[in-house]
Amino acid sequence: MENKTISRIGVLTSGGDAPGMNAAIRAVVRTCKYYNLESYGIYRGYEGMILNDIRKLETKDVAYILERGGTFLKSARSAEFRTTEGRKKAFDNLQKHNINALVVIGGDGSLTGAHLFFEEFGIPAVGLPGTIDNDLSGTDSTIGFDTACNTAIQAIDKIRDTASSHDRLFFVEVMGRDAGFIAINAGIGSGAAATLIPEKKMPVETLIERLKSRAKAKKQSNIVIVAEGGKSGGAMEISEKVRKILPGYDIKVTILGHLQRGGSPSSFDRLLASKLGVAAVEGLIQGKYDVMAGIINNKVVYTPIKRAIVDDKSVDEDDFRVAKILST
Ligand code: F6P
Repeated sequence: MENKTISRIGVLTSGGDAPGMNAAIRAVVRTCKYYNLESYGIYRGYEGMILNDIRKLETKDVAYILERGGTFLKSARSAEFRTTEGRKKAFDNLQKHNINALVVIGGDGSLTGAHLFFEEFGIPAVGLPGTIDNDLSGTDSTIGFDTACNTAIQAIDKIRDTASSHDRLFFVEVMGRDAGFIAINAGIGSGAAATLIPEKKMPVETLIERLKSRAKAKKQSNIVIVAEGGKSGGAMEISEKVRKILPGYDIKVTILGHLQRGGSPSSFDRLLASKLGVAAVEGLIQGKYDVMAGIINNKVVYTPIKRAIVDDKSVDEDDFRVAKILST
């Protein structure tokens, strides 16, 4: 499709919600208005495209959402959109509204959907990295990651108070599916005794040694951060192993869970989402299709979606080193 045909842009949020998604939607709608394009909200991600839950958006519809967590367009993980029939239904509904371009805000699964849709039906799409996991290439940070890290650190600070009052060992599980970005940030930022992430297996013996040497250094309380889906198992599993080896420790487990997905976006996420919302619409106008807009070294970059979703972004080796040095 030629870029000159773009007149109506559909915007949707898909997959796990992330703080800053609202700020991104607002930026898309306002940028459309600025360039005299129409914008349409597609509710509940690809589900809404299949069910024709699509409504025209005006500037007033996105007032007072910049600072709100979640996504006012709602989100879903659509099984039907993974089928050819589902995508055909979705395409027919876009046709009904004359929507000829999309901005898809979500994680790797959502962007994969946008890529397939472009390949099959030629609908130009720009993806925006919206996930707390930070596991997309083509951007230094994803929308929601900074807020999720702040939320995790604030929660861990509170756990630290009670851990220290009772000389306890806490295992705190953070989100991140197959990625340890939140875990390593929270580990360094909260002064954890150890951080266990999916990308790097830490044998339980190493953890035990770390705890023993901290005991020698008269550290009476410990916080161990565990990324969900970590190669060594979740926080519950690891705590049980440690309990057997160190029966003298008073061990507790806290799973932070979906708490990390909510809340008002940080200033960093508001800025990132706003810049990327503008970049998405401008990218479409310039004929940049099937790409994800991201920010690297403070500059907007467009990366082919196929490349952005490749799972090759991993926690910086140097972050492990820093975490280790500071945990002694
Ligand atoms: O991808 C974001 C995320 O919060 C992951 O960190 C987590 O594993 C997953 O979503 C949880 O998904 P759901 O909310 O569908 O249980």
